[in-house]
Amino acid sequence: MPNRTVIIGTGSALPCRLVTNKDLEAVVETSDEWIRTRTGIEQRYLIGEGETNSFLAARAAKKAIEMARIRPDDLDLIIVGTFTPDMPMPSVACLVQKELGAKKAGAFDLSATCSGFIYGLSIADKFIRDNRKMKILVVGSEVLSRRTNWSDRTTCVLFGDGAGAAVVTGVREDRGILSTHLHADGSLGGLLTIKGLGTAQPVTAEMLGLGWQYIQMQGKEVFKYAVKALEAVAWEALSANNWTTDQIDLLLAHQANIRILDFLRERLGLSEDKVFININKYGNTSAASIPIALDEANRSGLLKPGMRLLMVAFGGGFTWGALAMRW
Ligand code: ACO
Repeated sequence: MPNRTVIIGTGSALPCRLVTNKDLEAVVETSDEWIRTRTGIEQRYLIGEGETNSFLAARAAKKAIEMARIRPDDLDLIIVGTFTPDMPMPSVACLVQKELGAKKAGAFDLSATCSGFIYGLSIADKFIRDNRKMKILVVGSEVLSRRTNWSDRTTCVLFGDGAGAAVVTGVREDRGILSTHLHADGSLGGLLTIKGLGTAQPVTAEMLGLGWQYIQMQGKEVFKYAVKALEAVAWEALSANNWTTDQIDLLLAHQANIRILDFLRERLGLSEDKVFININKYGNTSAASIPIALDEANRSGLLKPGMRLLMVAFGGGFTWGALAMRW
C-alpha cells in the first residue's frame, strides 16, 4: 500500500467585524436584494482593530493543530495560500511559524488566489507520498477587505476576510488524498487583477488614483471561464479515480457565487445536500473559502470515514484545480 495523505485536524478563524448587505447599502449604491440574488451572499466578516492576515492564519492553525493532537514543533512544513499577505516580507507562513513556535518547520507562501488551498494540499501531498511521517500545515488565509475598492460596487459587495487550516500527515491505508489536478491560464490574467503594489509599478499618487491597489474584475467574463473550468476539472478528477458523479458524497467548491455553485451542481447532476454552501455567511474569502468550508463540515460531523470528497476551486491568474479524497 503506498503512502496516502490524510487530514488529521482542521481549523478556521473569522475576523470580528460582521458586515451585512444592509450595512453596505450605506457604503455604495446597492441593495440586499441585488447582492443576494446575484451572488447568494448575505453577510461577510471583515478585519477590525489589530487583526491581520497572519493573525487569522495563526488562529485557524492553532485550532487545526489542537484537533490533530500534535505540538507545533512536530510540524515539518507550513504552506500558506494567500495573495493578501501582511507585507511582502516576511511571508505570512513565517509569521505563523513564529506565532506557533513551530521551530522545526520550513515555511512559505503560495500565490494561487482562490485555488491556493488546493495548490497547497497538492504540494503537501507530494512530500507526504515520499515520507509519510511528515506533518504539514496547509492554510488558506486572506484579508481581501484591504485590497477592495470600497467605492466600486461591482467588487466590494463580494469579498470577505478569513482563514482556514488543515494538518496533514501520511498513512498506509486506503483513504486520504487520491488525486490532485492543477491548472492555470495566464493569458486571461487581465480579467481579474491587482495591477499596482508589485514591483512593476512604482507607488505614485497617479497609480493610487487609478485604483491599481485594488481588485479589478470583469465579473461577467470571469464567471464564464469559472463555470467552464470548474466543470472540466471536476470531470477530470472523477475520471482519474473512476468515480461516477453519484459516488461523490460531498462537493467542497470555492465559494465565489451561488450561481456558479448551482451551475456546477446541475452539470454534475448532484442533489443539493451534496454541495456544501456557506457563501451566504462569509462571502468570497478566496484561498480561505475551501478550508473554512472543510472545517465547518468536519466540526459539524458531516464528514464520515470513507466519504468521497471532491474539492474544486477557481480564481485570479487564472488558476484552478481539483482534489479528490476519501475522508
Ligand atoms: N449593486 C447593485 N447593482 C450592481 C452591483 C451592486 N453591487 N454591481 C453591479 N451592479 C449593476 C451593474 O452596474 C449592472 O447594471 P447595468 O445593467 O445598468 O449596467 C447590473 O448590476 C448587472 O451587472 P453585471 O456585472 O452584469 O452582473 P452579473 O450578473 O454578471 O453579476 C458578479 C456580477 C456577481 C460579479 C458575477 O459576474 C460574478 O460572480 N462573477 C464571477 C466572480 C468570481 O467567480 N470570481 C473568481 C474568484 S475571485 C478571486 O479570484 C479573488
